[in-house]
Amino acid sequence: MRVAMIGTGYVGLVSGACFSEFGVDVVCVDRDASKIERLKKGEIPIYEPGLDELVKNNVEQGRLTFTTDLKQAIAGADAVFIAVGTPSRRGDGHADLSYVYGAAMDIAGALTGYAVIVTKSTVPVGTGREVERIIKAARPELEFDVVSNPEFLREGSAINDFMRPDRVVIGAETERAQKVMRQLYRVLYLIETPILFTSLETSELIKYAANTFLAAKITFINEIADLCEKVGADVHDVARGIGLDGRIGKKFLHPGPGYGGSCFPKDTLALVKTAQDYGAPLRIIETVVAVNDKRKRDMADKIIAACGGSVAGKTISILGLTFKPNTDDMRDSPSLAIIPALTQAGAKIQAYDPEGMHEAKKMLPDITYCNDGYETMKDADAVVVLTEWNQFRNLDTKRMKSLLKTPIMVDLRNVYTPADMKAAGFTYICIGRPKA
Ligand code: UDX
Repeated sequence: MRVAMIGTGYVGLVSGACFSEFGVDVVCVDRDASKIERLKKGEIPIYEPGLDELVKNNVEQGRLTFTTDLKQAIAGADAVFIAVGTPSRRGDGHADLSYVYGAAMDIAGALTGYAVIVTKSTVPVGTGREVERIIKAARPELEFDVVSNPEFLREGSAINDFMRPDRVVIGAETERAQKVMRQLYRVLYLIETPILFTSLETSELIKYAANTFLAAKITFINEIADLCEKVGADVHDVARGIGLDGRIGKKFLHPGPGYGGSCFPKDTLALVKTAQDYGAPLRIIETVVAVNDKRKRDMADKIIAACGGSVAGKTISILGLTFKPNTDDMRDSPSLAIIPALTQAGAKIQAYDPEGMHEAKKMLPDITYCNDGYETMKDADAVVVLTEWNQFRNLDTKRMKSLLKTPIMVDLRNVYTPADMKAAGFTYICIGRPKA
């Protein structure tokens, strides 16, 4: 089996490396020559645990190669994956499909025989059909099938999510295309992974429905957490109490400062727009988007309130900048809403993130970056846990107190327990749990 993976971003690189681990020959293509050069040298442009090792092993075994030469990559491939970016289009929230359609044109020009063209990027309903139209128009004589095969990869655990997924969704409408896809995922058949074959449109919608549902679940528990604070209930007990009901499920009920990342914010917005375009508005998701946006700003108010109603002239220590741990991804991170609101209110920010600072410096140039978590606390008026990196989970409270001007902690990820923090002499503010 031979696969060409177009786009060596997050999804393309992880998928390419994982398919090669499945024993498939994979050629990863990107227009960015410097990126391809770096990959050839074994330098991985993103932070994803285990990815460097996986790439290295498969490159060494000759199953994974990198090139800028699209024609050479596509010639003789059984499947060509489109894994290019689909950013939110400026202004209207629709997904920007120019890279996907550009790739379709390139593929049309390079195919030498039957191949399955697979959209791996998250694309709005109808995109696969348009890719099909573009290729057909350019090469009417060509035999090919277009397939939708959405990814459900979480940053930080993407390799495991690829290798041991809950399910694989494949929108493939011909026997021939299904056969190629079955062969590609043969390894997962052997471990009895449910593989769901659907139509193109259904598969495309499954991806959006899954992500928007999860975003709604998080937003739901965040609002319940706010209510818990008002009525004196504990959100973790509520989450457990409802999560044990098999119909609800325990996962994705952890309250926090609002979801971020490369997928949920973009995908919720894109589905809202698609639904509006089709005259079938998704009121629930519209509300989720609005509530989550507001929540990020509200977190700044929570921090200001914890500091006695004003942060003017005060120093705030920030632990964690990325939207979640084990990634260097800053896209739509709550920190990008919270920190500017704090600086606007007159606060000085001292921040540290284990992997995200390189990216963060481009987006938040005017704050002080420190070398570790403790350094951020030096002479600070309060410390905020913004991202739950492991190294922030077990901080030495004595040392923290010796560094901080006032022992105030705002824990936006509920990493610590109110009773322990009270015993350690901290004023402790968290999300949806009663004071000790
Ligand atoms: C997500 C989906 O999980 C994945 O299936 C999809 O294909 C891509 O988008 P990812 O963005 O990597 O993956 O992160 P995820 O772990 O899902 O977290 C998303 C956001 O929700 C983060 O900001 C996280 O902090 C937040 N979150 C998650 C919560 O606030 N509470 C939770 O219980 C779970």
